[in-house]
Amino acid sequence: MKISIGADHGGYELKVKLVKFLKESGYAVIDNGTNSPDSVDYPDYAKPVARDILEKRADYGVLICGSGIGISITANRFKGIRAALVTRKEHALLARAHNNANIIALGGRFTTVEEAKEYLTIFLTTPFEGGRHEKRVCKIDE
Ligand code: RB5
Repeated sequence: MKISIGADHGGYELKVKLVKFLKESGYAVIDNGTNSPDSVDYPDYAKPVARDILEKRADYGVLICGSGIGISITANRFKGIRAALVTRKEHALLARAHNNANIIALGGRFTTVEEAKEYLTIFLTTPFEGGRHEKRVCKIDE
């Protein structure tokens, strides 16, 4: 499974840790930066991750900014992207099971490394339930 990841400076430190964690867990990773703690603009990192998913270079995306808000708002401008800002493990599960989310967004300034690893593991291993949720998810892009 291939994961595309991107972060601004507010998510840079957490991204470094999660790239290592993902690789050690056996995932292939496309790292779209940023590659230093210098100030950058989160849309520049959300867009390549959204495109990696829509153009099928990646199965799922991980986006991190300071709050997780700006970077998820940007990703959700792309038709076909369902980016879920996750702040507790139940969100990670429901984002996949009910919303078939294809990107997990995290707030680098509000999420510990251990929490992020737990959310990510749940997100990447929980299947979409389909059923009654299928038509709801389809309606998002109508
Ligand atoms: C950058 O300081 C911060 O605004 C950004 O990382 C993010 O939190 C925006 O939503």
